[in-house]
Amino acid sequence: MSTVGIHDLELATTHHVLDMADLAEARGVDPNKYVVGIGQSRMSVPAPDEDVVTMAATAAAGIVERHGTDGLRALLVATESGVDQSKSVAAFVHGMLGLPTTVRSVELKQACYGGTAALQMALGIVAREPGAKVLVISTDVARYALETPGEPTQGAAAVALLVTADPAMLAIEPIAGVATIDVDDFWRPNDSSTAVVDGALSMGAYLSSLTAAWDDFAARGGVPIEQIDRFLHHQPFTKMARKAHMSLARHVGVKLPAEAMESGLVYNRELGNSYTASLYVALASMLDAEDDLAGKRLGLFSYGSGSVGEFFTGIVQDSYRSVRRPEADRAAIENREPVTVAQYVDLHRTVLTSGEDVDTPRVTRAPFRFAGIRGRARRYERTGSAA
Ligand code: CAA
Repeated sequence: MSTVGIHDLELATTHHVLDMADLAEARGVDPNKYVVGIGQSRMSVPAPDEDVVTMAATAAAGIVERHGTDGLRALLVATESGVDQSKSVAAFVHGMLGLPTTVRSVELKQACYGGTAALQMALGIVAREPGAKVLVISTDVARYALETPGEPTQGAAAVALLVTADPAMLAIEPIAGVATIDVDDFWRPNDSSTAVVDGALSMGAYLSSLTAAWDDFAARGGVPIEQIDRFLHHQPFTKMARKAHMSLARHVGVKLPAEAMESGLVYNRELGNSYTASLYVALASMLDAEDDLAGKRLGLFSYGSGSVGEFFTGIVQDSYRSVRRPEADRAAIENREPVTVAQYVDLHRTVLTSGEDVDTPRVTRAPFRFAGIRGRARRYERTGSAA
């Protein structure tokens, strides 16, 4: 086996979308603060019959339809918006996709870093058993309390990755730099449906994590920064990735062109924060936007508050254009139904508890929906096939 990495990728998001200019007007804020200052144009808003499970299943269904389940050995789902303290999102998705019983299924959590932890685990599984395939899904709904500074940085999306030997899209290189630093910058207590955050501390913690992860990457023999052609940084909001890019350049003492990360910002600006999925939304955005990336090295920085950061690299494969599906990604983004601020506030305030049986209204056009709660258990339905 020569390489291990990402063979295919699929993006899913929600039924609804809220325009940042509308939110700014409702909050009495200059729209440029959200659109330019924070760098967000719109954010995805889940319908009542959507959640992290339906987005995860929707993203993974296309990959299963294209590649089948032969050799599939694991389904790893990363999220920080889990729907149960015991049963994993992976177990729900496994059932919804009708995967073979011989696929191990598990959920991983470390804030927005969980997707990268899952990817590293998948690479390990495939390195040990080169015929194996692993589905890695990152899925999240970013939720802050209404009328707080974090409100314009909400959003939602899922990204499914198929990890294999000799991948068609991105071969991940073996050297990674990591940094775990225990800090209370952002967290979500078990009894809260919204995150608690110290905004200024979280931005500082993110940047400290980036430089610490870079230093570990360099100390382990990672390539010099001049050999990295493009950069993808975790994007709680797109301005944060710009800050990261400049901070890394200052830390290493080089000039890094701003264009080396621009194409990775397009989708996150539209979807908002998607926590674990955000870095892989950025990857989709860059691979969809640029036609001449074959052979180029990407540097990826994953950050999860609390905190864990990881810097790693991958080489774009010659065949990446043949597996990317930019039209499908753009359709997922463009086909969202706009909501007014009043409708968004109603949706935000609706938080179901498991104690009461409920049937959710039929809203989503996705192939899977959250049908409601019966006997304290969540029920899901398949309503169509993958796009
Ligand atoms: N026109 C243009 N720009 C404007 C403006 C206007 N009228 N008004 C303000 N701005 C600019 C500001 O200058 C600032 O830009 P710079 O940072 O480049 O100076 C930007 O808009 C934001 O303004 P504020 O700093 O005043 O914004 P705020 O304090 O109200 O909120 C925030 C910013 C703290 C990041 C808040 O959105 C928040 O708490 N977000 C959630 C936490 C978060 O995302 N943290 C990031 C690191 S943690 C992480 O990455 C994990 C994760 O996914 C959560």
